[in-house]
Amino acid sequence: MVNVLENIHIKKAKELINGIPLKEKYGTYSKLYSFTTENVAGYYSKIEFQNKKILTVCGSGDHVLNAILLGSKNIETFDINVFTYYFLNLKIAAVKELSYQDFLNYFLLENNSHAMDYKLYVKLSRYLNKTVSNFWKELYKEVHYNGNVLRNSPLFHNLYDTNEKKLMSNLYLNENFFQSLKQNIKGVQITFLESSLLDLKNHCGNHYDFIFLSNISDYLSSMFNKNLLENYQDEIINPLKKKLSKNGKLFFVYQYDVGNIRSVVDDMEKVKSVFSNVKEITFPSVIGKKKQDKILYIEE
Ligand SMILES: C[S@@+](CC[C@H](N)C(=O)[O-])C[C@H]1O[C@@H](n2cnc3c(N)ncnc32)[C@H](O)[C@@H]1O
Repeated sequence: MVNVLENIHIKKAKELINGIPLKEKYGTYSKLYSFTTENVAGYYSKIEFQNKKILTVCGSGDHVLNAILLGSKNIETFDINVFTYYFLNLKIAAVKELSYQDFLNYFLLENNSHAMDYKLYVKLSRYLNKTVSNFWKELYKEVHYNGNVLRNSPLFHNLYDTNEKKLMSNLYLNENFFQSLKQNIKGVQITFLESSLLDLKNHCGNHYDFIFLSNISDYLSSMFNKNLLENYQDEIINPLKKKLSKNGKLFFVYQYDVGNIRSVVDDMEKVKSVFSNVKEITFPSVIGKKKQDKILYIEE
């Protein structure tokens, strides 16, 4: 029996597939990212993850998978978009069941006639719980079992989804590392929290070594009417800082193409006028040659 809530999720996902525009860019029912848009490889490789407890945005699931590859065993992941729960579980099952090549065939978009191939889905579905397999089964039915239609549908943000960028952004998409991920994923505890960033303090646990908020801070204007940085600090960052363990780090801003100011959090002067002791990691961007990205964090 599929319960009422699961039925709503399926109905909303079908609407998205069929091009019915949903209300918000980032809401309970919004498009999925198939892969991260950040250079996660660029900054995760500079952080020690072994046995660390983390809280991270879910999105495409790539923050979770890269953290597991690097040795994190206890992960809580949150997202306002409920579809990310279904996609994360699909990706985890695919890591467990598929070969490296089949994993790429299943998820990559560009020049790929095997994208979300139904035969591959049937293989990996043995690792899905009933709720998740029902969801995907219904979506496959909707596209007449044509995975390519599903993968190219408006269920996903498909702009800039090039194979090269996605391979560069993810450590686990290296073939040897993918085999290590298959091993590491066996003993990991992953908890999904359906939560907005604003509410996260009320839903999450505590004693995290790292908290990753991705680039959600680019959208502060959808959370607050004014004093964006001050409100970000008071309503989100200070309460979440209390959830860190000693020496824990809270990664609260991701800047694409350093120097290009697209939102208030890209302006270092303004950020530093509100937040004290801001630390940063700079690394090559995947959005263009010679460009750099930066992640800002504070420590407990
Ligand atoms: C900010 S987006 C952009 C992609 C991201 N840079 C990545 O690499 O995955 C990532 C995820 O954040 C989620 N998100 C956006 N705003 C949010 C909010 N206010 N609270 C919780 N999650 C949010 C979206 O639903 C999406 O799945």
